[in-house]
Amino acid sequence: MKIAIIGTGYVGLTTAVVLAYLSHQVAAVDKDTHKLKLLHQGKSPIHEPGIQTLLDEVGHTLRFTPSVAAVVPEAELILIAVGTPPKKNGEADTRHVEQAAREVAEVCHPHRHYTLVVKSTVPIGTNRRVAEVVDEVFATRGIQGNVSVASNPEFLQEGLALQGAFYPDRIVVGAHCDDAIDALRRLYQPLLEQTFDPPSAFPRPEAYHLPPMMTTDPSSAEMLKYAANTFLALKISFINEIAGLCEKVGADVTEVARGIGLDTRIGPRFLQAGLGWGGSCYPKDTAALLGVAAQSAYEMPITEAARAVNFRQREVIVEKLRAAFKRCCGAGVTIKGKTIGILGLAFKPNTDDVRSAPALDIIRCLVAEGASVRAHDPIAMPNAEMALDGTAVDFREDVYRLSHEADALVLVTEWDVYHKLELRKLAKQMRMPILIDGRNVYLPQDARDAGFYYVGVGR
Ligand code: UDX
Repeated sequence: MKIAIIGTGYVGLTTAVVLAYLSHQVAAVDKDTHKLKLLHQGKSPIHEPGIQTLLDEVGHTLRFTPSVAAVVPEAELILIAVGTPPKKNGEADTRHVEQAAREVAEVCHPHRHYTLVVKSTVPIGTNRRVAEVVDEVFATRGIQGNVSVASNPEFLQEGLALQGAFYPDRIVVGAHCDDAIDALRRLYQPLLEQTFDPPSAFPRPEAYHLPPMMTTDPSSAEMLKYAANTFLALKISFINEIAGLCEKVGADVTEVARGIGLDTRIGPRFLQAGLGWGGSCYPKDTAALLGVAAQSAYEMPITEAARAVNFRQREVIVEKLRAAFKRCCGAGVTIKGKTIGILGLAFKPNTDDVRSAPALDIIRCLVAEGASVRAHDPIAMPNAEMALDGTAVDFREDVYRLSHEADALVLVTEWDVYHKLELRKLAKQMRMPILIDGRNVYLPQDARDAGFYYVGVGR
């Protein structure tokens, strides 16, 4: 099929590469000249495991252009994958989605049928609004036009985006008309039936079952995307709330999570206590859901609480650090003047994304309290430096150099490299071997045996 994708962010680019791999003819549109320059050179503007190899593999079958008019008229299916950034009040801003729809409608051929698919995460009712925008443009152009609008929410997990795209749990389509559902079924046929040869970097998991394609109405499709993210966010916040109580009563949250996760109704995933969630989705989507609710004068105390617990975790970690200094160095000792090493800046491993990353808040707080902060991340240091915008941080390429004569280490992101650190060597060269493990990466006894004053979360 001939596909046009508007937007080459995480969702747009991943989708474009995968659909091109599945032998569709894909053209992706973006206005960002820097991104386009990289893409024209065959380079990925985002860090995502495997994406560069796949870009190389699909080569020129995937085209990139700044011009909607150059690709949309000939396309059968158009996917909108532009950003929906948060407004000041938390609601999602759908301006770019509407603008994309407008630009598409302006160049649609009057006598051809198109399926216009909203992939961006959007507030409930956006599909209806997109259909209105298209009709308004057609009315201005004095043409009838023939566009079916559908919702196809994306469940991409950064760091695992391509794995998730080739082997999805489900594909959700929200549409009122059969031709849009049919077009999307044809688009995803190779995934639904798993008829493609898996790329070498992404072999088909052994226990993988064919994914269902769920069809529903557009509003329910829009709603279920927010509901899915909010549910996962609150599952994490729930275990973090339990973690806090575990500390008070002398229980171990990792054992509690293991035990409740064995209940198939609960399941073991997303029960890792720690610094909680960041990234581009949970913070934004839970706020947007509350924005949608506020418009209907509807209270959502569970969602509110999930957010409150999540952001409290960042303060909890700094509090653990304050308490560790008091414990190890004396009641009057504070963070002021201490040298603190931050391990991990990305909001999670395998991405260079630092949006809403816990590390940024923690660093700002430590600097405000007068600490010297050193920071390390395998790939996210440039993005963190930009996001921290002048905050005094000493970025170090090497964890051992970072820890030299440091007073404490705070592990913020559970990158693989941090699992393999030589704890004994680290502890030895620190001025004060304090380790605050914000992701429960280490076994407390191992860290203590290596010489650390160790504090985890909920254990
Ligand atoms: C999420 C959803 O998973 C995805 O379906 C949706 O489309 C976008 O939002 P993403 O933000 O990439 O994806 O990350 P995810 O892997 O879900 O993790 C989010 C955050 O939760 C990370 O900061 C991670 O560290 C944290 N997390 C995750 C925990 O703190 N504990 C856990 O048990 C799991």
